[in-house]
Amino acid sequence: MALKRKDILGLRDITRGEIEEILKTAETMKKVVVGPNKKTSHLQGKSIVTLFYENSTRTRLSFELASKYMSAVAANIAASSSSVKKGETPIDTAQTIDSMGTDVIIMRHPMSGAPHIMAQHVRSSVINAGDGTNEHPTQGLLDMLTIQEKKGGFEGLKVAIVGDVVHSRVARSDVFGLTRMGARVVLAGPPTLLPAPGCELPGAEYAPTVEEAVEGADVVMALRIQLERQKKGLFPSVREYARFFEIDPKMLSLAKPDAFVMHPGPINRGVEISSYVANSDRSVINEQVTNGVAVRMALLYLLTRRDA
Ligand code: CP
Repeated sequence: MALKRKDILGLRDITRGEIEEILKTAETMKKVVVGPNKKTSHLQGKSIVTLFYENSTRTRLSFELASKYMSAVAANIAASSSSVKKGETPIDTAQTIDSMGTDVIIMRHPMSGAPHIMAQHVRSSVINAGDGTNEHPTQGLLDMLTIQEKKGGFEGLKVAIVGDVVHSRVARSDVFGLTRMGARVVLAGPPTLLPAPGCELPGAEYAPTVEEAVEGADVVMALRIQLERQKKGLFPSVREYARFFEIDPKMLSLAKPDAFVMHPGPINRGVEISSYVANSDRSVINEQVTNGVAVRMALLYLLTRRDA
């Protein structure tokens, strides 16, 4: 098993076969994550570097653990404490890392498209760990692994994604991946936080109200509200947002009785999701985190086997 592509930059152009291969490998890797012995030799002799220009807990740590569980040499660079602060460009930084013999560079950057440009200038594989408002492909894949585990597949499922869709790289990757696999994705949120007419996400449906999106859904995903958006006037107040859009028990009661709730994290309790729902047995937020390590192990394994 291997992926033919050099880089994982997004799910927009990923094939059904590639998704199936990644999820199948992730299922195997998950046994390592939840098992008693978290050490394999899959990445023995490989060098993995994470280069983050934005904050992260889940993505960065799970890539680091994935690398270490598989015996790679793993290192992190935070842009805030690197020569980036002296004015070094992302391409120069990436080429510097590449020149140290790395096999995979994992990059998060506030500019949409930054990992795509970088990938053209380095020999290493590049994994996009979130670029601006464009994509977060590894989050999309871990969400898909979680849904597949719970529902056994994707065909015909209704997935409601609620909140700040227009700024969400997670929503974009989820829409591309889930619709490719045959799920219906229905988006809802304040009109100012949905894509403008003509810029809709291909393959997704738009519901006029959150209630209509959630009604009969198999999966309900709440997106993080970036509180700075309120300062820009995109919604009147956090309290009003919560009143109309929060996934609370009443809203969740509209979904199918066996529906579960997802959130990419970090969560704002009492804003986009109630504490009660986040802590309930309908929430799979912690399972998403576990699956994040498994999916990232799978991607590192499959990308580094291209030449094997
Ligand atoms: N979901 C996600 O990307 O979380 P982090 O910002 O903590 O990596």
